Amino acid sequence: MQKFVEVLPDRQAIVERSLFLLVEKIQRTVAERGQFTLALAGGSTPKPLYEAMATQELPWDKIHIFWGDERYVAPDEPESNQRMARLAWLDRVPIPASNIHPMPTGAGDAAADAERHEAELRAFFQLGAGEFPRLDAILLGIGDDAHTASLFPQTAALQVRDRLITVGQKDEQPRLTFTVPLINQAECVMFLVTGANKQDAIAQIFAPEADAFTYPARFIQPQGELWWLFDEAAGANL
Ligand code: 6PG
Repeated sequence: MQKFVEVLPDRQAIVERSLFLLVEKIQRTVAERGQFTLALAGGSTPKPLYEAMATQELPWDKIHIFWGDERYVAPDEPESNQRMARLAWLDRVPIPASNIHPMPTGAGDAAADAERHEAELRAFFQLGAGEFPRLDAILLGIGDDAHTASLFPQTAALQVRDRLITVGQKDEQPRLTFTVPLINQAECVMFLVTGANKQDAIAQIFAPEADAFTYPARFIQPQGELWWLFDEAAGANL
């Protein structure tokens, strides 16, 4: 694993830096392998990056979009991560509909939809039993409780090692989420973190010793590159 930690002046600087890194990776990977697989984060931090991505000239037909987690709501609900990314970005570029792979939330049963998405990913990546796909990039955020994706502290989702997708829980609300082993298989994991309210979580994530079940982002140790992009508020104590 190669780890990169950058504290940038503000949110706009994070947008510019992450945009540069992502566009470079997309262009290089598509040139080398003809495809780029990207999983998006939800929440508020990545939205300006998605808006900036919508202004780029990229090989959209070669880019496949996934989500690292999804609230268990209909895709037209305000809290939907899919809805946020479509409005900010995906509805504004000529990416084929078949290249967009949202987490399903329509079965009325989060576990059934997790199984369904697991099958969708296994088919797309043509995986054998027990295999995990290596996404080219996974974007993640950090909650002020150090959760990432929908891997929340002291939840069963943190222990899942034999699945790609599982059900996370936030305040009894189900969510679908990438599992730790799926995230850690990635070529590149990029955390985008803003706000002073994240300082305590960051301190525990970067501490020499702390319980990963209490600070879940400590589990994220990808095979490839690990990028941490902070604004000054979030990264003040690094
Ligand atoms: C979600 C996200 C979640 C998010 C963090 C940080 O569905 O909410 O995937 O993990 O990245 O909660 O959210 P902010 O960027 O809004 O601080």
